[in-house]
Amino acid sequence: MVISSTVFNLFRRAWTPAVTHTDFERALKQLGVERTKPLIVHSSLSSLGNLVGGADTAIQVLKSFSSTLVMPAFSYYTLVWPEGQRNDDWPASLTENGPPFRSDSPVSKDIGRIPQSLLELSGTLRSQHPTLSFAAHGSEATQILGVQTLEHPYAPIGVLEHLDASVLLIGVDHRSNTTVHYGEYLSGRPMLERWANTQQGYVKTFYPNCSAAFNAIESSLSTLRTLDLGKATLQVAKVRDVIAATKRLLTNHSEALLCSYPNCRCQNVRNKIRRDGMRPREDIRLEEWLGIVPA
Ligand SMILES: CC(C)(COP(=O)(O)OP(=O)(O)OC[C@H]1O[C@@H](n2cnc3c(N)ncnc32)[C@H](O)[C@@H]1OP(=O)(O)O)[C@@H](O)C(=O)NCCC(=O)NCCS
Ligand SMILES: [Zn+2]
Repeated sequence: MVISSTVFNLFRRAWTPAVTHTDFERALKQLGVERTKPLIVHSSLSSLGNLVGGADTAIQVLKSFSSTLVMPAFSYYTLVWPEGQRNDDWPASLTENGPPFRSDSPVSKDIGRIPQSLLELSGTLRSQHPTLSFAAHGSEATQILGVQTLEHPYAPIGVLEHLDASVLLIGVDHRSNTTVHYGEYLSGRPMLERWANTQQGYVKTFYPNCSAAFNAIESSLSTLRTLDLGKATLQVAKVRDVIAATKRLLTNHSEALLCSYPNCRCQNVRNKIRRDGMRPREDIRLEEWLGIVPA
């Protein structure tokens, strides 16, 4: 008899000690997560073992520990490889057939069930980037999402930095920490040209190197706190700290945080850096977008 993985997971969960709403709240309190600040979360639901109430419980608790709850709502499957636009950077896996992005496009499986639940929650806003959209629920959602453009896909992280947000990793490590990509961007790391399918046709956007080597930032974080919950390790740090640590690493060693897998797009990025160097970017006009008068 063949048992499907879903049924197997259900049985396995039933034998795993339960993590309750109260356990989750207690853990976030112990970690010092501030209820009055925005929080960006990257997660693996299964890492918790057996969360009573599943993704909905996670959303309820996380919402109560943030002024605005933010998650990636990325839809990688919209990336396409239009004829006539191909260059060496393009992965052979891309075709011209990616489905167009819509406001209700599901998040990629690689992003997870908890972000999908946030997206489905009444009152959640989603930015309209076809591949790298974010979901946000709370008082600063419009401010955070409104700065994203095709040219500056990670700009929402800049607003999170400005708002003194934290980043929380649930059962995943810094390879899932999008904030590191923003630090790379500010440091002048080349972004790769990509195209995505939208209901208006193909649009050009920019895409980062991979994140396989991102755990190298962990030892440079001064605000990092960790705690176990169920079978998962939770890690929380200030967005500001993650960005500063990334910039420090890349200032000292421009090829830091690039992986060494021969077929990875990181090798294209490495070649570009060796050829052109890295010039920190000043074209992010967050002050202008947010209406902040520089001191
Ligand atoms: C890829 C990734 C999402 C996989 O994690 P995962 O735990 O396997 O998957 P999800 O978070 O989607 O959770 C779904 C799983 O939770 C499990 N699950 C369901 N209910 C559950 C419950 N109540 N308690 C615990 N686990 C449960 C199920 O087994 C389900 O797996 P299935 O669909 O195969 O049955 C995760 O490893 C990851 O990388 N997350 C971060 C992504 C990110 O933010 N990336 C940013 C890129 S820069
Ligand atoms: Zn790589």
